[in-house]
Amino acid sequence: MKITVYNCRPFDELDNFKKMEKETGVEIVCCPDAPDLSNIHLAEGSEAIDIITSKMTRELIEGFAKTGVKYIATRTIGYDHIDRKACEEFGIHVSNSPYGPNGVADYTVMLILMTIRKAKRILQRGNLQDYSLMGNMGREMKDLTIGVIGTGNIGKTVVQNLSGFGCRILAYDLYEKEEVRKYASYVDMDTLLSQADVITFHTPLTEENFHMINKDSIAKMKDGVVLINTARGGLIDSEALIEGLESSKIGGAGLDVVEDEFGLYYYDHKNDVLKNRSIGILRAMPNVTVTHHMAFYTDNETRTVVEDSIKSCILFMEGKENPWQVY
Ligand code: NAI
Repeated sequence: MKITVYNCRPFDELDNFKKMEKETGVEIVCCPDAPDLSNIHLAEGSEAIDIITSKMTRELIEGFAKTGVKYIATRTIGYDHIDRKACEEFGIHVSNSPYGPNGVADYTVMLILMTIRKAKRILQRGNLQDYSLMGNMGREMKDLTIGVIGTGNIGKTVVQNLSGFGCRILAYDLYEKEEVRKYASYVDMDTLLSQADVITFHTPLTEENFHMINKDSIAKMKDGVVLINTARGGLIDSEALIEGLESSKIGGAGLDVVEDEFGLYYYDHKNDVLKNRSIGILRAMPNVTVTHHMAFYTDNETRTVVEDSIKSCILFMEGKENPWQVY
């Protein structure tokens, strides 16, 4: 049995993969690069490959299928980067790694606090020895209504985290959860949009959810609303977001994810001219904090995704029941 791992980070994943190789006896080939047409050959003889958020296009999937790959394990919760139609066409199955929600939920609360307390501005000005107060006034959580869209694993944990701050919490999900009702009131989407001072997103990116937040939905929001996105960039139309920030309709944003981030994040681009204008514009705004899809990144997550993705590949190859398989 052989598994080919792509985007294997030598500084924090390699040792864990080597440990799994020793424990399971399965050959694990680690490649530091994202899967592409030039390194598909590394998967020859592997029934399963192990990837992160790099885009798995139809062309790539067809290429892997030709080498005999039947299974893609992604070391991420989201799996929208894998072309599902192509996988179905070429008979490839997919699993994800739903590690615990706390890392992302903690990070979400951090971005909410950073945005309402203007942390970016305070740090930038402090670096210039500008210790004045004007423009740095924040707001207190207890005075705010926070809207949580999507109360699955992460959204539910965000609600629990927020419950200690004394804010009013509104929630919206297609399926309501009893445990969330302890801390939050479920309302319809329009009520949440119109009443929340801060809105945080925790839904997957699907065809239906693409640009869930657009010009029309922003128009329904409170003036000065703060938007927090630690889910997927495609949930928010970047153009509409930038226009909303420029007009001050939106008072600030904390974005761990942005549209079209594929290929940019997790690489050193300091000498490059970026081909994503939205990121440049958003980063330049004093009231917008942009981080490079980091919310997941904790010691706990790193260990869990390596172990679970390898276990999932082995179970699939052995034809056994597999709790991580999503299709
Ligand atoms: P989950 O599947 O547990 O929960 C998603 C929830 O969204 C479900 O309750 C579902 O009913 C709800 N939902 C789906 N469409 C909806 C809609 N149109 N309106 C309202 N609710 C809707 O997913 P989980 O694990 O909580 O992840 C949430 C998001 O976080 C995903 O987009 C995932 O890709 C992202 N994520 C981001 C990370 C980061 O590092 N920034 C790391 C991990 C996950």
